[in-house]
Amino acid sequence: MKQNPFDRPADPTPANPITIAHPTPLQWPHKGNFESLDMASVRRGYEVYKQVCSACHSMKYRYYRHFSDPEFGFMTEEEAKAEAAEALIDDLSDKGQPIKRPGKLIDRLPSPYPNKIAAEAANIGKYPPDFSTIMLARRPHGFAPRFNTNSNEDYIFSILTGYMDAPAGVKVDDGQAYNPYFPGGVIAMPQQLFDDGIEYKDGTPATQSQQAKDICSFLRWSAEPFHDKRKEWALKGLVLLPLVTVIILYMKKHTWSLIKSQKVKWHTVKGREPPSSQPKST
Ligand code: HEC
Repeated sequence: MKQNPFDRPADPTPANPITIAHPTPLQWPHKGNFESLDMASVRRGYEVYKQVCSACHSMKYRYYRHFSDPEFGFMTEEEAKAEAAEALIDDLSDKGQPIKRPGKLIDRLPSPYPNKIAAEAANIGKYPPDFSTIMLARRPHGFAPRFNTNSNEDYIFSILTGYMDAPAGVKVDDGQAYNPYFPGGVIAMPQQLFDDGIEYKDGTPATQSQQAKDICSFLRWSAEPFHDKRKEWALKGLVLLPLVTVIILYMKKHTWSLIKSQKVKWHTVKGREPPSSQPKST
C-alpha cells in the first residue's frame, strides 16, 4: 500500500531520512475555545483566494449564497450578489447549447479546470487540491490530529511563507519549488504570495504573511462555516450539563423513591402454613 506522507514522523529516522520542518505554532485570532473567527480577516482571505489561488484551486462545495448566509456569512447580500455576478458560470442556453452567464447566489464558485485530469495536465501532473475543506485535511506531518490546536493553519501558513532555495543535493525540476514544510521538500506549486502582490480593499498592507494569515482564516471559515456556532454551543452545553445532571439525578431518585422505600415482609397466617417440605418462613 502506498504510504501516506502525512503519517511519516516529523523528525528524520534511519528509515525516513528526510527532515521536515515543523510549522511554528501561531496565535490565530480564532484560537481558543472562546474565540470566534476574525471576519475582517476572512473577507481579506477571500480576496486573496479570488485574486491568487482561484487560478488553480477550486472550491466546488462553496456557493455564493454562503458568503451572505445570515448564520455564518461575511458579506451583505448585495455584496455577495455582486461577487457572483462577476463570475462566469457554465450553463446551457434555452436551445441546449453550452453558454457562460453571470453568476447568481445559488451558483457554486467556478472551478479553474473542467476536471481533475485537465488540472493535473496543467500542473506537471499534480492536482491542486480543492479548497472547500482543505483546512481540515492538512495537518503538520507526523502529528496526530489534535482537537482545537489550529496546527492545520500553522501548516498551511508555513507552506505559503516557507519557500527558499533548495539545499545542495535536492533536485528541483521546472515548475517545482523547494519548501521544507512540504513532505519530501519539493512541491509542484511555486511561491504564490509576495509582499504587495495584491491590494486589499480595506487598505490593510498586503505583506506576504498578512496574505497568508488571511487566506488561512478564509480556509478555516470554508472548512467549518459553523465554527463560531460550534464553540457557542459547546459553551452552552458545558455550562448547562452539570445543572442538567443534578436535575436528572434528582428525578431518578424521585421516580424510584416509592419502590426503593418499600419493604416486603411475609407473615404466616394461622391455618394457611406452607407445606412442611418447604422451609418455614418466619
Ligand atoms: C499555479 C497554480 C497554483 C496556484 C495559483 C496556487 N496553487 Fe496551491 N497548489 C498547486 C499545486 C499544483 C499543488 C499540488 C502540489 C503537490 O502536490 O506537489 C498545490 C497544493 C497546495 C496545497 C496543499 C499542500 C499539501 O500539503 O498537499 C495548499 C495548502 C495550497 N496549494 C495552497 C495554495 C494557496 C493558499 C494559494 C493561493 C495563495 C495557492 N495554493 C495557489 C498549484 C497552485
